[in-house]
Amino acid sequence: MCGIIGYVGQKQVKSILINGLKRLEYRGYDSAGIAVLAQGEICTMKCVGKVAELAAKAQTHFPYASTIGIGHTRWATHGNVSEKNAHPHLSDGNYFAVVHNGIVENYLQIKAFLLEKRYHFYSDTDTEILANLIDYHYRKAMQCSFGEIVRKSLLHVEGTYGLAVLSSIFPDEIIVARKSSPLLIGLGYGENIIASDAAAVARYTQRVVYLNDEEIASIRSDNFLVTTLREGVVDTVCHNLDLEVRDADLAGYPYYMLKEIFEQPSSIENAMRGRFTEDNSSSKFGGLSLAPQELRSVKRLLFCACGTAYYACLAGKYLIEKYARIPVDVEYASEFRYRNAPFQSDTLVFVVSQSGETIDTLAALYEAKRKGYTVMGITNVVGSTIARTTDAGIYQHAGLEMGVASTKAFTSQLTILSMLALLFARQRDMDSFTGQQYACALKSLPAAINEVLQSSKQIRHIAEKYCNQKHFLFLGRQVMYPIALEGALKLKEIAYVHAEAFPTAEMKHGPIALISEQSLCIFVATQRELLEKTVNNIQEVKARGGKVVAIINDKKYIWEELCDEVIRIPEVHGGVNPIVSAIPLQFLAYYIGVTLGCDVDRPRNLAKSVTVE
Ligand code: M6R
Repeated sequence: MCGIIGYVGQKQVKSILINGLKRLEYRGYDSAGIAVLAQGEICTMKCVGKVAELAAKAQTHFPYASTIGIGHTRWATHGNVSEKNAHPHLSDGNYFAVVHNGIVENYLQIKAFLLEKRYHFYSDTDTEILANLIDYHYRKAMQCSFGEIVRKSLLHVEGTYGLAVLSSIFPDEIIVARKSSPLLIGLGYGENIIASDAAAVARYTQRVVYLNDEEIASIRSDNFLVTTLREGVVDTVCHNLDLEVRDADLAGYPYYMLKEIFEQPSSIENAMRGRFTEDNSSSKFGGLSLAPQELRSVKRLLFCACGTAYYACLAGKYLIEKYARIPVDVEYASEFRYRNAPFQSDTLVFVVSQSGETIDTLAALYEAKRKGYTVMGITNVVGSTIARTTDAGIYQHAGLEMGVASTKAFTSQLTILSMLALLFARQRDMDSFTGQQYACALKSLPAAINEVLQSSKQIRHIAEKYCNQKHFLFLGRQVMYPIALEGALKLKEIAYVHAEAFPTAEMKHGPIALISEQSLCIFVATQRELLEKTVNNIQEVKARGGKVVAIINDKKYIWEELCDEVIRIPEVHGGVNPIVSAIPLQFLAYYIGVTLGCDVDRPRNLAKSVTVE
């Protein structure tokens, strides 16, 4: 959460910082700010609200010419949303400016120490202590380099940080450091750019160096030096981003979320590309690095993830258990990290994360590794911390996902999990003909999804008609239960309405009490098995005055007589059915959000990547 940008080079920095912040806005958007060095002084501008507001203000009220500066877009942790709490934060005397992502856990002790030394504080943030702590260490050892001063300061800091520091005393240099919050250095010619996210640097360079935990770097226009907080110089590796700048553009869509829903035929195609065996009866993953014998000897799988990725794993559990007959556990990463769960030694652990930076998922990964497990990653962001920390892994190749509400990343995770089900199944009892049918269904997914995308207008009408219902209940059985959970999460996230999900038959055990004319039940009824039971459940809702929307692919029943609204989708193989069934729910959440006037790309209180606990 929180986006950080910094630039040192030959170009005017203001527009670089603001453009970078626009790319980073999905990491936090309650306030934003920039600091540049002009005529030997640090000049700052801050603004509550969106980066667009900062940009407008900067156009008229920020005349400073400068080629070095830092910027920040905030997701509040300590201190309310206000201009005084927005970053950058300055030290007393304005010699140092800091932007920070993370939490300084011992900030109260450090603040008490600095207050004793007569430092003043103007904000309620933990970050401000960093600026004054750096100033304190500067005054203590004035002969030290900028990097050394920041390094000495950080040795006293407990907690997490990705940070950038600008100083009027060291006018050619930005210092950045990282502990648990992502930071990368984009390498240019005669210029360097730092950011918390590749999206912000891609338009300037494709060559990046990722900072690791407890590393600190000095960045100048023509060189950079990375050292560790404790040991010395680090040999850095330069990575190629391979990120399309246009991925970060709206391409004519009103919102990223809608653009990304429509991108799913190609994002799913990309997730599958080159990942089928020659005889088309199984899948293969170059990154998995497990020999067939090793794959076969796996007795149990454990998936750890958060939010949408957790629901993808839950759906994966149904698929893997059904087709490959391997027991699967799915854990919230945020719980797993603190639980001393007993697991058997032949368990293979997967962590799943779109961003590859979610702090809880990362902590679960460390915990599993500490216990000696082999940990695989499924991530979308190339070069992310999780991608670099796992033993091996699979990239989703969904492309940049800018919408805070995950859509295409979710379906690409489902696609990979379905392909894993096929892979493990073929290592066990699935015959090659059945495997070919499965693979063929996967390959037909983009076409099936294109068909579902045609129903966007119909779903928009449904959304407009029912957006003012008081309760939204999403119901699904078996593998459609996690899809229902994801549908409810999407709606909560972007439309701020009460939405819950249950396994359909659980309704009678309590939630049915919520049913009235004010409730809308969305049944994901796309499995042939258990259809009769679902029809009974629909009638139970109707008998109590509830409204029903059914997502179906069956032609046997006259659904229009049973339900208030029917969304028909193509009938597909069970291994891909959850993927196709998820799309109408994405549209429903999107159109309800838009109809209710919500900013669906920047839902309140959320940020794309949760890098604080
Ligand atoms: O980047 P990750 O997949 O690790 O993120 C996990 C969750 O924070 C994320 O899925 C969140 O629930 C999204 N806002 C869902 O739309």
